[in-house]
Amino acid sequence: MLFIGIDLGTSAVKLLLADEKGTVIKTVSKTYEVFFPKNGWSEQNPADWYEQSKAGLVELLEGQDKSQVKGISFGGQMHGLVILDENDEVIRPALLWNDGRSAGESDWLNTEIGMAKLTEETGNISFAGFTASKILWVRNNEPENFAKIRKIMLPKDYLAYKITGVLSTDVSDASGTLYFDVKNRTWSKYMLDVLGITEDMLPKIYESYEVTGKVLPSFASEIGISEDVVVAAGAGDNAAAAIGMGIAGKAGRCNISLGTSGTIFVSTDRFAECEGNALHSFAHADGQWHLMGCMLSAASCNMWWMEDILKTSDYAGEQKDIADLGQNRIYFLPYLMGERSPINDSDARSAFVGMSMDTKREELTQAVFEGVAFALKDSFEAVGKAGFTIESATVCGGGAKSPLWRKIIANVLGIVLERTENEEGPAYGGAILAMVAAGVYPDVKTACEALIKPTVCEVPQDALKASYQARYAEYKKIYPALKSVFKDIASGRE
Ligand code: XUL
Repeated sequence: MLFIGIDLGTSAVKLLLADEKGTVIKTVSKTYEVFFPKNGWSEQNPADWYEQSKAGLVELLEGQDKSQVKGISFGGQMHGLVILDENDEVIRPALLWNDGRSAGESDWLNTEIGMAKLTEETGNISFAGFTASKILWVRNNEPENFAKIRKIMLPKDYLAYKITGVLSTDVSDASGTLYFDVKNRTWSKYMLDVLGITEDMLPKIYESYEVTGKVLPSFASEIGISEDVVVAAGAGDNAAAAIGMGIAGKAGRCNISLGTSGTIFVSTDRFAECEGNALHSFAHADGQWHLMGCMLSAASCNMWWMEDILKTSDYAGEQKDIADLGQNRIYFLPYLMGERSPINDSDARSAFVGMSMDTKREELTQAVFEGVAFALKDSFEAVGKAGFTIESATVCGGGAKSPLWRKIIANVLGIVLERTENEEGPAYGGAILAMVAAGVYPDVKTACEALIKPTVCEVPQDALKASYQARYAEYKKIYPALKSVFKDIASGRE
């Protein structure tokens, strides 16, 4: 039997084919463009997601016994707003999770509806990245588009809709909308009224591992699979990554994802309120819950630094002269797209601090890696305050491929890092959800225990941990000192 996991990421869609024993047979990745029409805005065309996913599936299944494909499921970039009109046409490009244009609407929700009420209704406060404020932005700025809305969905749910014809979502992804009642795993009628939308515009909610339907006959024949292939609801990419890294059915386990975004994900066995809402309180794809801190630019800081600024694709070459870990006096704020956790500031931007005439190229590269690690630590500290003692974490995502970056993160956070054989966290998680939906495993926890065995890849060293502790104390002073400068710069923006 074969199962397909589709990770609808920001830079690419990653497709993975695995058998029921969890062996990864093949992976394929297809890129698409992200558009930044204005400073802090970010958009994609849903049609690109679908076309590239279809092309990727054809490539994935080339030379395989397609009759053996039994199930498909997803991990997907969260929070994005996809809106369809009465003809099921996409009304405008999707506003993505790292788009900060709705900061004003988000502030309005936090102040006028109030953080306490939002938390009571949804478990969370508003962030410009969450879907609710994006809906308000369209209502306030594009009333003609708002009036056309008949269906509202998240990115991976658009893909699922094209593949199955069923409008579905799952509890983990729905958690990031701010119109979902996370505790009771249902839409919040109160929030729908606030946003001026109705429940018939929204997908039906499923647990991540539940079957939502089968592939449409036309889609099945296009990629050459049976019409009986089942599709499971899937999960937001972080919950899917956690499943792909084996985090299911157990409280207090941590996964760190270093993708375009950087996240600290901690599983919980009950709905967890996080004091001060420093972390998101979301449903997990295993039927339980999780807390999560999300930084908007993680591996994307390094990609920006390498490709846009240094104009190189030799990532390993740029890292080879970095030796003095814990000694760098150059700091980097990784806020290229503003920041979500824990500072919630769409105006924040990146900065290098501390350069002098003798500063070298590799010190700046090192500062980029360390800045991302320090910003992760900001969320990690909130995890500690929420009552979780984390001594080890699995790590996945493109950034986790760098041994140097892993070492920096292990020592900045002071924890052991573990990896699994397969690094495609969300896509592998999607394949596991498909296996559970198809009945190969009775539940997600059993599947994860059978399929995933993490191994230690990095152990922190006392001396290095101590140097990073001192560097982190200095790093922590930089954002508060620049916060009002960022605000002034933003207010002069078009
Ligand atoms: C999570 C978040 C990001 C996106 C990236 O809250 O916004 O991790 O899901 O794909």
